[in-house]
Amino acid sequence: MTIYVDANEVPLRKSGQIRLYDESGFAGMRAAGQLTAQCLDRVGELVKPGVTTQELDDFIFQFALDNGSIAATLNYRGYTHSSCISLNHVVCHGIPGGKALKDGDILNIDVTLIVDGWHGDSSRMYVAGNSKRAAERLIDVTYESLMRGISAALPGNTTGDIGHAIQAYAEGQRCSVVRDFCGHGLGQLFHDEPNILHYGRPGEGVELRPGMLFTIEPMINLGRPHVKVLSDGWTAVTRDRSLSAQFEHSVGITESGCEIFTTSPSGLHKPVFA
Ligand code: MF3
Ligand code: CO
Ligand code: CO
Repeated sequence: MTIYVDANEVPLRKSGQIRLYDESGFAGMRAAGQLTAQCLDRVGELVKPGVTTQELDDFIFQFALDNGSIAATLNYRGYTHSSCISLNHVVCHGIPGGKALKDGDILNIDVTLIVDGWHGDSSRMYVAGNSKRAAERLIDVTYESLMRGISAALPGNTTGDIGHAIQAYAEGQRCSVVRDFCGHGLGQLFHDEPNILHYGRPGEGVELRPGMLFTIEPMINLGRPHVKVLSDGWTAVTRDRSLSAQFEHSVGITESGCEIFTTSPSGLHKPVFA
């Protein structure tokens, strides 16, 4: 049975219950979400062949500090970077490092900035130099998958409605949905209840209620859905080495629909292709 609790009345730790936040929570999420979105806008200016993913992470580290924030991933479960940067066949949790971007690389940059205790978690795809047609199609399908999932995020719907909207669209485009990672509740915690699966059946899962805060972050592959985690303990790659893409927004369920906290202030929500 799902138990919903007033976020103001329970201790700040994972309890298996679903927290419902009030207007002050939504205000906190707006501030955190907007700073994260601005960070993703700015780091995009640096993405080009020759730049290393460590340089991108360094920018994000400094951007957070300059804005009175800190990245939630820094020292999270032993992770030591301010972002995850996932190239080409890396599905998620790519660790920034000294490898330089090459022309045609596609990458996901995933950032969570904490502002006054609130977590704004978002990721987008970027292209270094000139993109290839197959990569462009995957990026477009993945972005549309996220937005269809968000369209199903309505009070009275369920988490299964979100997953179904994503899966039906992505598979209809001959792509596959990664099963091993999911979206998550967030707010004053980084990863909270409920899990938001990116596949599923209508009406399954947990009912969505006003005040719920969570991410939707589908990972979509051009090939098969299966992933493996490399020996570094973080980097998840497609088993068939096919290209993978991801977009993520942090959202809140309102009385009438859903508010997106991490919308780009400059309209840079996805790469533009020639
Ligand atoms: N930002 C990721 C998410 O969307 C989580 C990264 S956790 C890390 O949930 F430790 F890998 F950084
Ligand atoms: Co997330
Ligand atoms: Co994220």
